[in-house]
Amino acid sequence: MVISQDQLAHFNSLKTPFYFYDTQLLERTLNFAKSEADKYGYILHYAMKANVNDKVLQAVHAHGFGADCVSGGEVQKAIDAGFSADEVVFAGVGKSDDEILTALSHDIFCFNCESIQEIQVINELAAQEGKVAQIAVRINPNVSANTHAHISTGLKENKFGVNMSEMDAVLEVIAASKHIKLVGIHFHIGSQITDLSSYKNLCVRVNQIQEWFVARHVALEFINVGGGLGIDYYNPEVNDVADFKAYFAIFAEFLELRPGQKVHFELGRSIVAQCASLIARVLYVKEGETTNFMILDAGMTELIRPMLYQAYHKINNLSAIGTTLASYDVVGPICESTDTFAKGLELPLSKRKDIIEIKSAGAYGEVMASNYNLKTLHRSVYSDEVSVVI
Ligand code: LLP
Repeated sequence: MVISQDQLAHFNSLKTPFYFYDTQLLERTLNFAKSEADKYGYILHYAMKANVNDKVLQAVHAHGFGADCVSGGEVQKAIDAGFSADEVVFAGVGKSDDEILTALSHDIFCFNCESIQEIQVINELAAQEGKVAQIAVRINPNVSANTHAHISTGLKENKFGVNMSEMDAVLEVIAASKHIKLVGIHFHIGSQITDLSSYKNLCVRVNQIQEWFVARHVALEFINVGGGLGIDYYNPEVNDVADFKAYFAIFAEFLELRPGQKVHFELGRSIVAQCASLIARVLYVKEGETTNFMILDAGMTELIRPMLYQAYHKINNLSAIGTTLASYDVVGPICESTDTFAKGLELPLSKRKDIIEIKSAGAYGEVMASNYNLKTLHRSVYSDEVSVVI
């Protein structure tokens, strides 16, 4: 997404900070993901946690995705956004009783269960409601995602899933639970995975695990391999759509399926990350002793990824016209030193009121915003509404 002069003029007329959504890019991404998945009959769920902006959800739903939820709030939001309950899955290590009841009330497709105790609680609550809950057991495959430790989930030390050593006990509990039906197994090894060999390793591990189930005559309707496909934060203009072709091809090549078995995916970041930028204004440029500080009106309250995961987001000064460069620490207004987007970044000479674009912010951006320091994030702007004066 490259911002046009018309868009810049529009941004200049608006209160900042806000998220700007490129709806055409979102369409292109959804079309590509869906058509590549359709080649293999793969079923796609959109990981709502990445972004629950209404317009985004409408577009995702219109392209035939189901919803992957991690809270009762997300389950309800998915239903409200029009996703059919039979394409809603509910994951998470800590589902509360209320959240489970919400999901049961909608008869969702499947609970991705992460512990024996959780299976027992879902069974009890389903019995109370006179229902049978479909579940998939989330298995911790102990496969590395080669990603940032904070967003790695499939290793033994992570809190997610059930270890294979516990699986006999899990099957015993399921056999004794009349209000539970085991329909699949679930995996998710981490997020922002750019080394696709991690997925090959996952497939190899899933194949072994499938043998384990076959040996016990347990039939599984589907394998849910989670999400995690990474995007190119460094060259977002060039690689604006993730490599869904290579991604799905890995599963097609390495995952061994039993007759009739389906494969489910839960993609978040790769669907929405490139489709939005955080737009901010320069409030002040302060010359420090060792660096210049570019102080924006957006900070960790609008986009916390750089502060939380040392994540890189490309930053452009959309207003600057000169070719002279200067080095800046790009920081937010929040009263914390960690409120820094980038250090020593070379940008065109910048001044107060310049419009700054922080790219690839569509996933885990707006949803992770907070009102710490009582900051206000303004209404989102969409590329297909740019002529509208707000
Ligand atoms: N399925 C499960 C069970 C998950 O836990 C996640 C993400 C996904 C699917 C979707 O993963 P994706 O395709 O978006 O990578 N806030 C962090 C990312 C946290 C990811 C949590 N789980 C960040 O900003 O990088």
